[in-house]
Amino acid sequence: MTGGIEIFGVHGLPQVNAGDELASLIAGSVILRDGDVVVVTSKIVSKAEGRLVEIDPLSRDEERARIVASESVRIVTQRGPIVIAETAQGLVCANAGVDGSNLPQDRLALLPVDPDGSAARLREALRAASGARVAVILTDTFGRPWRTGQVNVAIGVAGIAPLRDHRGDKDTYGNILEATLIAEADEIASAAELVMGKTDEVPVAIVRGLSANGDGSARDLVRLPEEDFFRFGTIEAIEARRTIRMFSDRDVDHTVVGRAARAAATAPAPHHTKPWTFVWLKSDAARADFLDVMSAAWRSDLQRDGTDSAVIERRLERSGALLGSAPILLACFVSLNGADAYPDERRRVAERDMFVASAGAAIQNLMIALASNGLGSCWVSSSMFCPEEAARALGIDGPASALGCIAAGYPLEEPPPRVPAGSCLLIR
Ligand SMILES: Cc1cc2nc3c(=O)[nH]c(=O)nc-3n(C[C@H](O)[C@H](O)[C@H](O)COP(=O)(O)O)c2cc1C
Repeated sequence: MTGGIEIFGVHGLPQVNAGDELASLIAGSVILRDGDVVVVTSKIVSKAEGRLVEIDPLSRDEERARIVASESVRIVTQRGPIVIAETAQGLVCANAGVDGSNLPQDRLALLPVDPDGSAARLREALRAASGARVAVILTDTFGRPWRTGQVNVAIGVAGIAPLRDHRGDKDTYGNILEATLIAEADEIASAAELVMGKTDEVPVAIVRGLSANGDGSARDLVRLPEEDFFRFGTIEAIEARRTIRMFSDRDVDHTVVGRAARAAATAPAPHHTKPWTFVWLKSDAARADFLDVMSAAWRSDLQRDGTDSAVIERRLERSGALLGSAPILLACFVSLNGADAYPDERRRVAERDMFVASAGAAIQNLMIALASNGLGSCWVSSSMFCPEEAARALGIDGPASALGCIAAGYPLEEPPPRVPAGSCLLIR
């Protein structure tokens, strides 16, 4: 804790160009003291490091979109021309940090390749140029979910711990603080912005009186994927679902499965029914019994078809390996009880199709809900080929269709990038 701090801008710095020594420019404009925090906009670091790209001002929007795509490793969400992306530096921000402010129309700035490394080099060079032991924070201006307006945040740090951890401390009433982890480097970056402004004239500020110390990486300020509740935009959550056939043995939080089943049950269905049932084969015994019933039905069907017995056993082994090893297994059924009865075949088929289509929507809901919690899943059709036996084995009464099983768990490895599906939209 500090008695008070002083924040002032460093005025009179020249325009920065590729190859410029930022440390000598800064040390030549201000007398630094031990413990100062030197806050520097990443824009001038990008300039000094030659991270400006030339674009054709006449096709600025297209060029910018192309560069944003190449700077992104993951699109978090996109609305119109605005893209929120994860960058190779691990930051999540608008337009992958590609920015044209304070630059001529034919230039765009990219973020420094390694902001922590840039901060560390600048810190060393400032020590050499001024003799002072300072900390360095590189900043950029980020928007924030849920709040209007942008603030300066730390994207690179050196000589300062980015987070102040109060978890486990006691407050004045003796309560244990459970979640208090202050993003101190972001606070300093934001405070410094008050004297820096958004024009290029004051790209450096000094925060004095904090006696900064410690170490760490600005990456520590980025939430880990498993702690990120808002990892996907709405459409991106749909696209994030991938068929995963090999799972890690990491435990799945069972409440996630219950929540996904509730999301599944919001699917549209005919005649105001709720015709879907997901049977969670939670115990080893229930799962083994169900898989045995399916294997027996498959074996006898395939033998009747004259399939070679080695082929039969191979198929059963493959399907058993997936269904037997997945951390979560749900058998899916749709009841046809609510279907209207018709004397003619065409209408009966249409009724059945409506219910099956509705179950497809419910199963897709389920898989998307699982994916939004980081879980992969595979829709395995096995029970569709032995619907009566599958329904009987799990006590599903009345006219029903077995619609396969959903095997789910944390992916053993990242799936390969999705091949763009294109559009299935025909316009007449
Ligand atoms: C009704 C249905 C049945 C499926 N059955 C199987 C199956 O038995 N085994 C399997 O490995 N994948 C099965 N799949 C998964 C597809 O192979 C998978 O969706 C496809 O490869 C596309 O991959 P993606 O889901 O990652 O886009 C099934 C998918 C559907 C919709």
